[in-house]
Amino acid sequence: MEELLKSWDGESLITTFDRAAEAWIIIAIHSTILGPATGGTRMKVYGNLSEAVIDAQRLSAGMTYKWAAAGLDMGGGKAVIAVGPDMNAGERRPLLLRYGTLLNRLKGLFLTGPDSGTSVADMDLIGSKAPDYVFGRSVEAGGAGDPGPFTARGVLEALEVTAGQLFDDRSLKGKRIVVQGVGSVGLALARLLLEAGADVCFSDTDSQAVRQCREELGFEMISPDAIYDLDCDFFVPCALGGILNEKTIPRLRCQAVVGAANNQLGVPEDAQRLLKRGILYAPDFVVNCGGAVAITGMETRGWSEAEATSRVREAVNTNLITIYTMSDAQGITTDQAALRLAKNRLRNTQV
Ligand code: PHE
Repeated sequence: MEELLKSWDGESLITTFDRAAEAWIIIAIHSTILGPATGGTRMKVYGNLSEAVIDAQRLSAGMTYKWAAAGLDMGGGKAVIAVGPDMNAGERRPLLLRYGTLLNRLKGLFLTGPDSGTSVADMDLIGSKAPDYVFGRSVEAGGAGDPGPFTARGVLEALEVTAGQLFDDRSLKGKRIVVQGVGSVGLALARLLLEAGADVCFSDTDSQAVRQCREELGFEMISPDAIYDLDCDFFVPCALGGILNEKTIPRLRCQAVVGAANNQLGVPEDAQRLLKRGILYAPDFVVNCGGAVAITGMETRGWSEAEATSRVREAVNTNLITIYTMSDAQGITTDQAALRLAKNRLRNTQV
């Protein structure tokens, strides 16, 4: 654990053990160079505390680069609530309320929004204790609602830009697209892909999500295990991180990976592995900025939904074109190019 804390390049890590729910609350503040640390709150069962800390650290760095690349004056942070495998349903609400109280006591050191494992309803709960520090509350509670559809809109843009890059044609009509995970982003994206005339199949482990995607949209379901082996144009990770690794990359039979999940690469070298296999990788924190950009923009800058959508599309479009060009011209991976782009902006702000 000492090594974990020492080797991290972030600013501070706040840990609280919530005794009543036997849960760890970890708030990782990666960088406040551009503004207050802002990022989602993830709730998940982890194997151990180190895994949770590593996740919070990596996710909060991702937020720093996400905001920087998107051109917003926000800092990178992320919270992880590591719950036990058998926390009962009644514990969740008071835990979130206590977490809200904690955020309120931090007085804006960290601002949050929904992430995997938390919802708009959860933001309402947290926000009841920390009204000034929560994004993505329901419209009734004064928030801008679910970021998922905005993230999905950004992913659609990323798919179109990448199609333009690969096939000289942005249209997704008839393109074979494999979506891993149909949660709040994946399902919204599947709807957009249906409209775009793409040929979609998907996987998920949640039976309700599977039912919705099958029955409402009529898409074919693939077993989560077989998803990496499918012949397709685009592989679209919209579930959890670390899925592009030594084991899965050799199996992929896609032209490009363009998805919403955070931290898709197991380790940085996996970007090189993808490049060697001739698979174009659209860096996750560039592709998935939509929800965070739209919701914070609507709540703090008075953007309308339409303006938020066009800002998201513009950010994803310009950044990806720049990144693909940089990667070609400089002989670096797209992931390195994306980091360079984001770090340049951070450096230019640092005085
Ligand atoms: N889950 C979002 C992301 O990873 C975090 C977020 C959502 C932050 C909404 C602020 C507002 O980008």
